[in-house]
Amino acid sequence: MSKAVSIAIDGPAGAGKSTIARLVAGQLCFLYLDTGAMYRAIGLKALRLGVDMRDEAAVSALLDKTALDIRFTKSGQRVLLDGTDVTGEIRSAAVSRAASDVSALPVVRVRLVALQRELAERQNLVIDGRDIGTYVLPQATYKFFLTADVEERARRRLADLRARGDGQANLATVLADVRYRDKQDSERALAPLRQADDAILIDSTGRSIEEVVDLVLRHINRPEHDRQYSTDR
Ligand code: DC
Repeated sequence: MSKAVSIAIDGPAGAGKSTIARLVAGQLCFLYLDTGAMYRAIGLKALRLGVDMRDEAAVSALLDKTALDIRFTKSGQRVLLDGTDVTGEIRSAAVSRAASDVSALPVVRVRLVALQRELAERQNLVIDGRDIGTYVLPQATYKFFLTADVEERARRRLADLRARGDGQANLATVLADVRYRDKQDSERALAPLRQADDAILIDSTGRSIEEVVDLVLRHINRPEHDRQYSTDR
C-alpha cells in the first residue's frame, strides 16, 4: 500500500481546477499532476496525424507508437510527447476538443489511468481531472469537486486562451466548446465526470481564487472528527 497522500480535485472544464490545484500544491509542498494534459497530448497527436478519434482501433495503434512522459520541474509539470515538450501547444481550443474526444475511448483511459496511479503511488500529489475521486484514486486522502456556472467557466476559458495569444477565440465558440465537453465528459461510458459521493463540493462562481484555495486548505487542515460529521464547507 502506498503511503503517499493524494488530494483529488475533479470538476468540469473551466471550474478553476488547475489554478486551485497548483496553489494548494505549492502551499503543501506537494507536486501538482494535471491529468487533462495527458489526454490533451494524445488528442494533439491524433489531430496532427489526422486519426479518426472515434475509431478506437486506430487510436489504439497510435498509442502503441507514442511515448508520453510527465516531468515535474520547478516551473511546474512538463508534458513530453515522443520526446518533444508540448506543454504550451496542448492548451489550444482545438486540442481541448480533441482531448475530450479521445478521452471517451476506453483504450486511452486504461493506458493513462495506469500512468496516473503509478505517479500517485510514488509521491504526494494534488491531482486534477474528471474521474480522480471516482475511478483513478477512489481511496484518495481528500476529494474535492470544483464547479462553477457554465457562463463563468466559459469566460475564464476565454481569458485563458486570450492570455495565450489566441486572437480568434470568442465567447460564443468557447461557451459552445465548454458545453460540448461537459456533455461528452459526463456521458461517456467509462469513468464519466461525476462528483464522488465522499467529495466536498465547492462552487467557485463569484469566488476569488484566494477564497477557494482557503476553503480547500481549511478542509484539509480540519480535525478528523470534524470532517466526518460535517458536510458543509
Ligand atoms: O482538464 P482539461 O480541460 O485539460 O481536460 C481536457 C479533456 O481531457 C477533458 O475535456 C476530458 C479529458 N479528461 C478526462 O477525461 N479525464 C481526466 N482525468 C482529465 C481530463
